[in-house]
Amino acid sequence: MSQEEPTLRVSKIKDGTVIDHITGGHALDVAKILGIAERRAGIITIAMNVPSKRMGHKDMVKIEGRFLAGSEVDKIALLAPKATINIVKDYKVVEKQRVKLPDTIKGIVRCDNPACVSNSNEPVQTKFYVEKAEPLRLKCHYCGHVMDKKDVLKQF
Ligand code: CTP
Ligand code: ZN
Repeated sequence: MSQEEPTLRVSKIKDGTVIDHITGGHALDVAKILGIAERRAGIITIAMNVPSKRMGHKDMVKIEGRFLAGSEVDKIALLAPKATINIVKDYKVVEKQRVKLPDTIKGIVRCDNPACVSNSNEPVQTKFYVEKAEPLRLKCHYCGHVMDKKDVLKQF
């Protein structure tokens, strides 16, 4: 057991995904991205405000029997840029991936400005510059419109 977890608060999982080191308070945003409310997604455990050496407090989301698609990992990076994605097989962490928020975000988020060229009928892929990771601040490459976490969450 790691020093970060002097007592194990939630049980280990057998097979699935543990999203760890989510910034405190963001677990429900991550859960929303994963569509947890909308589908019968198996067993999900959400732990919030767990003491963490590295982060003070962190949140965690454990999903049993499911591994994430790349597009889901990209969305998680927007809302929880410090998260670690652990793939668990037969109780062991077999893969650990730190999410990465790139400097530019392509195609994941739509621009909220209806007049933006990316919302016209032209086949233009959306593109945003990450001006700030936490709290999130994205600036549209085409029209300069600025979006925050709340605007992005509405789309997920
Ligand atoms: N975990 C789990 N079920 C398992 C194995 C691990 O739920 N069968 C969880 C652990 O509780 C932890 C996370 O997955 O929250 C990562 O596990 P591990 O790599 O063993 O922990 P640490 O070494 O503390 O990870 P890190 O170095 O990323 O902080
Ligand atoms: Zn725009």
